[in-house]
Formats: sequence, structure tokens, C-alpha cells
Amino acid sequence: MGVMSTQTARPPVDLDWNTLGFSYVRTDERYLSHWRGAWDAGTLTLDNVLHISEGSTALHYGQQCFEGLKAYRAADGSINLFRPDQNAARMQASCRRLLMPEVSTEQFIDACRQVVQANERWLPPYGSGGALYLRPYVIGVGDNIGVRSAPEFIFGVFCIPVGAYFKGGLTPHNFMTSEYDRAAPHGTGAAKVGGNYAASLMPGAQAKDRHFADAIYLDPATHTKIEEVGAANFFAITKAGQTFITPKSPSILPSITKYSLLWLAEHRLGLNVVEGDVFIDRLDEYAEAGACGTAAVITPIGGIQHGDTFHVFHSETEVGPVTRRLYDELVGIQYGDREAPEGWIV
Ligand code: COI
Repeated sequence: MGVMSTQTARPPVDLDWNTLGFSYVRTDERYLSHWRGAWDAGTLTLDNVLHISEGSTALHYGQQCFEGLKAYRAADGSINLFRPDQNAARMQASCRRLLMPEVSTEQFIDACRQVVQANERWLPPYGSGGALYLRPYVIGVGDNIGVRSAPEFIFGVFCIPVGAYFKGGLTPHNFMTSEYDRAAPHGTGAAKVGGNYAASLMPGAQAKDRHFADAIYLDPATHTKIEEVGAANFFAITKAGQTFITPKSPSILPSITKYSLLWLAEHRLGLNVVEGDVFIDRLDEYAEAGACGTAAVITPIGGIQHGDTFHVFHSETEVGPVTRRLYDELVGIQYGDREAPEGWIV
């Protein structure tokens, strides 16, 4: 099924790999598959513009979902995808939640492989700290106006070379809690759907206006517990007994990085691990805190502003020791420098 790439004919990319942030770059080829009763085989295309019906449910009713994963250049020149089967499974869950047809794990990984191979010249070199961010998505398209599932769908994957999501990478950032929610208690918070991110735009902008890196979302039912950090998940290390804790809630997006850290904290760092409540008025129980996700990787949280109170964890400038060990373990596996648990690297 593989579509031959023409990238060997293209010159090397002229980019400063060491200063990449997280911005759109038009790379060479992207993958598109259409569903009209079944997913077709999919093709690569040079065109980065979609031509879809004005009645598409993705445009009006938010019938769409997306994923984020990265390809990493290893020291031996090989290319690592980090746990793409987990992204495929999460996208299938998002599709079920929004009544869209699921893309098989096989097609999902094949599409990612094709896009990486066709855009290999955009893959940041080993040692630059960058990676090729893959953005798979499914959108409802076709002529429609009623509130119902779309007659047709598109599954696409494009890629962008990226560096740090929060400026500076592994340096502490400060965040503030928002009065707004990104998701409802039994809404779509656990699905990776655009509506959650649309709901986060204003709170995120308000936080940035106040010179915080992003908004922290509390649990939508009681506003007493931390749920998420901008577009990332939250974790903390307790002072007592060095437990790795991350919130558990049906409205949190199940971060693959978070579940990877839970495993690494337990099996590589020997910590206790728990998915439980992190109360916003009990932050002094924690020695360190961080945001984690594919884009954010691990971003240490220096402090959190909540109402009139500003709580500093380990430091506003220094990375905590457990956070650093988790980072080294995770990133070491992603770039192929440390032994990966079975099935994590494709
Ligand atoms: C990711 O980490 O891939 C995310 O989903 C964050 C993204 C919305 C910037």
C-alpha cells in the first residue's frame, strides 16, 4: 500500500533545528483517507488545503477528533515512533464518542509511517532536542445540515518539526487556575475532540495576559481538585513517601505520556504511584509538580496562582530531582538511548 516518496529528490531543509518551537510549518506530504461506507486505502498528497462541503459536521457541530504523537531520530539514524498503538486506540475511543467510524490501528500506524517516510527531511536530527510531531485527525464531512452524524469522513495525518511547546523546554513555568472548565463532568473531556480545546482558548489567553504559561483546569463538578494544565495532564510528587500522583477523573484526557510516566515512576524509579485527587488547597503536600503530554513532554510547574494565593513547588527556576529523572527516562526511551519497555517503540 505504501506510496513512494519523492523526498530523495528534495534538498535538505534549511531550518535551525535547535530553536524550533511549536508552530505550523508546511511540510511536503500528508496522508488522506476518505470514508464513504468504509475507509479507502489512503494516499499521500502535496496539497495542504482541504476542499470540504460547507455543511460538514466538523464545521458546525464539532464532529471531529485528533491525535498528537512524535517521531524521533535516534543516534543510530533509525526513526522511533512512541507508542502509536496507544494513539490509535485513543482515536478509536474519540471516534466512538462522537459517532464517527473508527480507523483501525493498522491503518493508523501505516499512515503515520508513510507521512514520516515522505517527510524525512523535516525530521530534526538526533541531539537537537526536536522531533517530528504527527497530527492525525478524523472529521465529519459531506453535505448536511441536521444535527446528526456526517455522511462522509476524512482521516488525515500531517507532520511538523517541533521543539519545545512551552518556551525553554525543561524549565519551570508558572500557571494559574481558571474559573472556566474545558469539559463537563460527563461530557467529552476524555475524548480528544476540538470542542475541549476551543473551550480552553479564552481561559488560556486570560492566563497568558497575566504572564502565566497557561490555565489550570479544576474538576468541573466541584472546582476543588486539579484536572489538567492547558492542553496537558498534571502530575505531582508527594513530600511524604515520594509518591507519583496524577488526577483521576472521567473528564480528563487520558494522556499517553501520563500513563508512560506512571509506569516509569513505578518500575524505573521505584516510586509509589497513584491516580487520585490533588486538592487545590493542599498543594503544600507536594514537593514537585509538572505538566505532561506529547507536545509538552514534561514541563516542570514552578508555581500555581489560585485566587490570591501563589504556591511554589520545588522552585520557580530549578527542575526538581524526581521530575528530572522522569524526564531523562522518558526522553531517553523516545530517542532510543534507554531501553524501552516492550512495544513502546515502533
Ligand atoms: C499533544 O500533546 O499532542 C496535545 O494534544 C497538545 C496539543 C493540543 C498542542
